[in-house]
Amino acid sequence: MQSFDPRHRRVESPAARHYQMSKGGKETADVNDKSDQKDEEPSISGEYARWFRGSTPYIHTHRDKTFVVLLPGEACGEETLINIVHDLALLSVLGIRLIVVHGARPQIASALPASEVVENRRVTSADDMDTIISIAGRVRSRIEALFSMGLPNTPLHNVGVRVAGGNIVRAQPVGIKNGIDHQQTGEVRSIDKAQLDALLDARAIVLLSPIGYSPSGVTYNLEASELAARLSVTCGADKLIAFDEDGYVRSSGNEPLRDLTPAQLVAALPDNDERALLLGALLRAVRGGVSKAHLVSFARDGALLEELFTAGGGGSQVSESEHRVVRPATPADLSGISELVRPLAESGSLIARSPDQIERDLHQYLVAVVDGVVVGCCTLLPCGDDLELASVAVHDSQRGDRITGSALLRSAEDSARASGATRLWALTTAARDWFVDRGFKPVSADDLPQPRKSSYDGGRNSAVLCKVL
Ligand SMILES: CC(C)(COP(=O)(O)OP(=O)(O)OC[C@H]1O[C@@H](n2cnc3c(N)ncnc32)[C@H](O)[C@@H]1OP(=O)(O)O)[C@@H](O)C(=O)NCCC(=O)NCCS
Repeated sequence: MQSFDPRHRRVESPAARHYQMSKGGKETADVNDKSDQKDEEPSISGEYARWFRGSTPYIHTHRDKTFVVLLPGEACGEETLINIVHDLALLSVLGIRLIVVHGARPQIASALPASEVVENRRVTSADDMDTIISIAGRVRSRIEALFSMGLPNTPLHNVGVRVAGGNIVRAQPVGIKNGIDHQQTGEVRSIDKAQLDALLDARAIVLLSPIGYSPSGVTYNLEASELAARLSVTCGADKLIAFDEDGYVRSSGNEPLRDLTPAQLVAALPDNDERALLLGALLRAVRGGVSKAHLVSFARDGALLEELFTAGGGGSQVSESEHRVVRPATPADLSGISELVRPLAESGSLIARSPDQIERDLHQYLVAVVDGVVVGCCTLLPCGDDLELASVAVHDSQRGDRITGSALLRSAEDSARASGATRLWALTTAARDWFVDRGFKPVSADDLPQPRKSSYDGGRNSAVLCKVL
């Protein structure tokens, strides 16, 4: 299994690099330095173009979906908030329905150092509530201001993002717990889904502070993680995305866990601290029917986009089960297949096939799909009375776990058997041993059935392998 190093991923990510560049990071300075410009420009633009093309299936998958985003107070105090807000605006422009919940815990803690915190919940007196309302208002106003930026040469120029809010969250008091009256500390009682839907349908980003109102007109101090989890479940959101500094759920050995089930998340939950509240929200969301919950870093620029628009992701993802299937390709998979095989054809590992050729032979392709995104493919081509397995490709991020490549091969063998073929052929320059390990025997090119023998490219000198089905 390949090890996963988030720092490496960050450095390598074209998304992150592009964002550093466009937001005045170090690489912008280098680009402006004429001495470096010649060497840098072609590779960056090529890398950026590849990344942008590769994001197409994700853009398609996410459109019209509803995401609840939890921005804890720690993220709201960071300079990187501007980048996150601009990335959220981008998601909105791409047709994603966004509900953003902000927290204000560190800001409130420094304003109310003497107030009592019991089991991670602040006991809120009426006076404290006034302070909390004004702090939440300031945080909200900062986020709204960033969404409203629109100067020329800034990411939101001419975008016109609309931010909305309102009395969407009904609250009730936590009450007396273990003998302690929590006063105006509240919990979510209900959510006005109709109002929320109307705002989302109008293409507004809904921004909510962790504050709710009771039917008797009392204002309550809510826990932002709890609010985000409840919103995601009540709205039937497709994702809950929470930010923290690290951006990964980690194993007991401190390894970042990229994909995990709720049971694995329970095992990784820290003791009852603030992080447990955040991770607990992810758990509640997934257990409540939200298909996926994500943790991404607010400190690592571009982590959100990397998580949503690249196969490898940029954080941790929790889902009830992994949605990985191997199935016959459909026209919607065409761009995914082309993007997957193109770099392998460029490096000579696969024979180059144009998008037109792939489209024509699409009915012969199988794809491995994770969460709707093509991560592997292969094709079965006529080879005399037999079939040839070609264009076997697995995305870098999914290689080496004996899942994707092996699943594709198993499905291809099943399809070949079902079509009456008795032998499966493979020609490869780079994966001879992979086929041998899976029961293929090396043979001579002369053994190939006609007409494949005549079309064998001696210059390419591929190893020829055959498996009796
Ligand atoms: C060959 C390929 C499809 C394998 O995909 P995969 O998802 O990594 O395969 P699996 O996870 O099922 O198998 C992983 C095992 O195969 C081994 N393996 C992967 N690629 C290999 C290769 N090119 N040669 C030999 N062994 C290879 C891994 O080391 C791993 O072995 P281990 O479990 O003992 O550590 C993938 O590496 C790929 O896309 N390669 C580029 C395209 C190519 O060469 N295609 C074949 C020609 S049609």
